[in-house]
Amino acid sequence: MNILILGAGGREHTLAWKLKQSPKLSKLFVAPGNAGTAAIATNLAIGVNDFEAIKNAVVSEKINMVIVGPEDPLVNGVHDFFLNDEILKIIPVIGPQKAAATLEGSKDFAKEFMMRHNIPTAAYQSFTSETLEKGYQFLETLKPPYVLKADGLAAGKGVLILKDLQEAKDELKEMLVGAKFGSASTTVVIEEFLDGIELSVFVLTDGKNYKVLPTAKDYKRIGEGDTGLNTGGMGAISPVPFANKEFMDKIHDNVILPTVEGLKKDNLPYKGFIFIGLIKVNNSPKVIEYNVRLGDPETEVVIPRIKNDLLEVFEAVANQTLDQIDLQLDERTATTVMAVSGGYPEAYEKGIEITGFDKIDDATVFHAGTTLKNNAVVTAGGRVLAVTAFGVDFKEALKKSYENMEKIQFDKMYYRKDLGFDL
Ligand code: AMP
Ligand code: GLY
Repeated sequence: MNILILGAGGREHTLAWKLKQSPKLSKLFVAPGNAGTAAIATNLAIGVNDFEAIKNAVVSEKINMVIVGPEDPLVNGVHDFFLNDEILKIIPVIGPQKAAATLEGSKDFAKEFMMRHNIPTAAYQSFTSETLEKGYQFLETLKPPYVLKADGLAAGKGVLILKDLQEAKDELKEMLVGAKFGSASTTVVIEEFLDGIELSVFVLTDGKNYKVLPTAKDYKRIGEGDTGLNTGGMGAISPVPFANKEFMDKIHDNVILPTVEGLKKDNLPYKGFIFIGLIKVNNSPKVIEYNVRLGDPETEVVIPRIKNDLLEVFEAVANQTLDQIDLQLDERTATTVMAVSGGYPEAYEKGIEITGFDKIDDATVFHAGTTLKNNAVVTAGGRVLAVTAFGVDFKEALKKSYENMEKIQFDKMYYRKDLGFDL
């Protein structure tokens, strides 16, 4: 089979690396890809939201299946575009249709979905500029810290957590009236603050059946001890040590099952990954968000732990025969550490040469923001690359990730050295 992966990050390099191992694979394409995917697949210079160009590539390269990495094209309806096209409608797309992708595209929609299906989540109310005064009143009923969420996609920056009531009111006004996050903050969800430890659960569904994939925990803040600005993710660990059988059973019964059943009841066709962000509060899981894709860098630890032929698994998603797949997981722990450009998540330079790939031993480097320049690998983004390793526990795996990270070099490189500090 010829496969096209949409996206350009560590998640897409990991998917490409895994699919490359399938005996069923003929040609692999990534659009637009990075220097890592260029080494194992053919990169196509096409943006993930350029559906016409994607169509042309699918036809000319005889693509048999498309795997969508990021949320944007899903929320923009890339799957629907395929289904509505006479030529493309027979090509399976891994990733939900637009209606279900709204679970990530609108926080308000996701909250209503959770309410409707009795899925545990933080208490909330939604507001627009017309109901700003009511928003102030609602904030006054809550205890600090205050959680404000832009309803729409805001590249992971749309959530504000504020300690001070007046500051929360000012920010609410900035979001609703000042369009702080553009049209993404036309509606704002104000939520009860949940105090606990976070983890993520990944589910793959074909719309009828589902498989629970490994859990993962990512580290979002730039600074050690979870301080400083939020990033796309500075590293991840899978499985999450505190997600024991008892807790996973609760997640399954109270969250996963009602989510998959809810999609069916609401007539939201879904063939793809569901990424459920959870907080453990008093030993109970509460949902903080749905994403309609895999996480990054969570993919860099979740996918390597799946032993099955991933292409076979995706075929089962397309054919709605996921129940016939016997999912085999690597029992070991996988960790990944992300190296970023100096200055990230604020301003940083690009185009800096990266060296040391040849010295990597017993670990895998997944490229994120990299590109090729005169045959050299250079930085092309804030998050540059992730080093994944395995161990009997997260400490052993991290030791290997860090030992290998030390062999990689680029000017102003930075990575957190304290992953797992909270476990
Ligand atoms: P989200 O984009 O919804 O994942 O939110 C980004 C981050 O904000 C999450 O990873 C949490 O760390 C935090 N967060 C979101 N909602 C809440 C909440 N209700 N209580 C506490 N922290 C939250
Ligand atoms: N690592 C968080 C995300 O992919 O959204």
